[in-house]
Amino acid sequence: MSTIRGELGVEAIVEGEGGPVSTRPRRLRPVPITFSVSSQSAERASADLLALGVFAAPSSGKASSGKPSSGKSRSGKAAASLEGPGVDALDAALDGRLAAFVEEARFTGKPGETLAVPTNGRLGAKAALLVGLGPRDDVTPAGLRRAAATLARRADQATSVATTLTAAAPDADPVAVTQAVAEGIALGAYQYLAYKSDGTPTQLRRVTLLGPGGAAVRDALARARVVTDAVAWARDMVNTPSGAKSPAEFAAAARKLLTGKGVTVTVLTEAQIRAQRMGGVIGVGQGSDRPPRFVKVVYNPPGGRARGTLALVGKGVVFDSGGISIKPSAGMEEMKTDMSGAAAALATMATLRALGVRHRVVSYTPMVENMPSGGAIRPGDVLRMRDGTTVEVLNTDAEGRLILADALALAVEDGADAIVDLATLTGACVVALGNKVAGVMGNDDEWVAQVRDAADRAGEPVWPLPLPPEYRKLLDSEIADLANISSGRYGGAITAGLFLESFVGEVAWVHMDIAGPARAPADDGELTQGGTGFGVRTLAELVRTFEVPKKPSSKARSASKRSRPKRAPAKKARKSA
Ligand code: BES
Ligand code: MN
Ligand code: ZN
Repeated sequence: MSTIRGELGVEAIVEGEGGPVSTRPRRLRPVPITFSVSSQSAERASADLLALGVFAAPSSGKASSGKPSSGKSRSGKAAASLEGPGVDALDAALDGRLAAFVEEARFTGKPGETLAVPTNGRLGAKAALLVGLGPRDDVTPAGLRRAAATLARRADQATSVATTLTAAAPDADPVAVTQAVAEGIALGAYQYLAYKSDGTPTQLRRVTLLGPGGAAVRDALARARVVTDAVAWARDMVNTPSGAKSPAEFAAAARKLLTGKGVTVTVLTEAQIRAQRMGGVIGVGQGSDRPPRFVKVVYNPPGGRARGTLALVGKGVVFDSGGISIKPSAGMEEMKTDMSGAAAALATMATLRALGVRHRVVSYTPMVENMPSGGAIRPGDVLRMRDGTTVEVLNTDAEGRLILADALALAVEDGADAIVDLATLTGACVVALGNKVAGVMGNDDEWVAQVRDAADRAGEPVWPLPLPPEYRKLLDSEIADLANISSGRYGGAITAGLFLESFVGEVAWVHMDIAGPARAPADDGELTQGGTGFGVRTLAELVRTFEVPKKPSSKARSASKRSRPKRAPAKKARKSA
């Protein structure tokens, strides 16, 4: 292998002589966008582009905020909706003709709308862009995050942008608003150009936020930077073709990411995974020519006084062909994203020291490739998992739960106080909740609530699903302790959750099925087409605010445990799946 330097100062790695043509991504240096806060007026702020948040007319039935309109007095009805911080200055530069201009362009201030407006050289900024925010009373940090991402995409030819977006929700918490806007800009500017010969990287380098300042706001900007860097790493990994991310390469990338981040990284090879009796990881991985890895990362907070241990578990299937239970070919390429849970967990580990996390956090990410071959596991084979549970593999495409079983069991053994796992686990969850919302399940109501609250604050949509003990018998096996798929046709996200639950003992545990939102079919708000890095923002919020859930808290936890003794013999014949 040798490293060459391309025209853009971009590195490409090519195989040595006689080796295969390279399928390795060019390593593009992430483009850092520098944020600053300024109390300058929109009029004077100097930048290539001045981006002004604009409200839409109030939705019918809602009372108007009563705030004065910039254009109302100047021109007629259309101008009534043209409000937003800094809009007056732009209107003055256009000699009061902004409302007419906007009306002609049919810009209404709806979320997602933008409109480029000339400045006649009368403002500090060379050009202006209106960014729709929807009705003033409906503006939230999440809405501003989306608007900021839209702005970042439109501003890709500007080097510097000044924006009033952080001044558009004066009643909201300025810290939450600033973090959301900065996140939106950084995430909307994300591009994956590693394989584009003629890709045009964004020019955006500097953003001035014309809004509230102060130490807390500066901290929010620093957090946004840490979190969005982590999301970008997760997206890069998810977008990387499977051919360029064997388990070993994925593990190496994780090690590289985490070097110098205040954590210790252990990478287990296949032989070590076998020696650790992780039968799920070995079984799923054995069909691939590229052997599995198991990455464990430990963060101990500085000062040694950790308040509890949080375990992050992530599914790291670098490609899911289905194995012998092979998937249909249509859309199979999307299964390069089946390591999104592991990517999110590892990316989060990179943020802990910078976020000043005061808890012990340990991540467990099994990495495998699920392939059919002469060495692959077959339907009907039985695997023995780390905790001794035997599992009959009735469908080799239900592989995620097999590798997660080992990881969860190890987290429990290591003494985790609470576990959260992220996995692109079931198509059934996408059927239930669509491709924007993750399913959340767990055995402890208080812990589920903590995770949901963190997701809400982070602006990542999640929704709870139940884990009814009555469904557990659907996982009975004729010859082993458990089957890896349900004997029933329905509730596949739930039965997958129930399978995982049997490996966490009495430890508070939450499972996030991110099969839908881990990938986006198109750019949408702060999400970019392809890998979204879903979960990183939630986990980064969770690790900051984590509190050890009180012991056998919810009835749900103990009730579901009692109803079915672990490794109970099968009681019922299985119908065909
Ligand atoms: N990785 C898939 C789940 C998936 C589906 C992720 C769609 C993203 C988008 C998982 O390993 C899988 O194949 N699940 C099966 C389970 C079934 C065999 C019980 C599924 O959902 O079909
Ligand atoms: Mn699968
Ligand atoms: Zn899978």
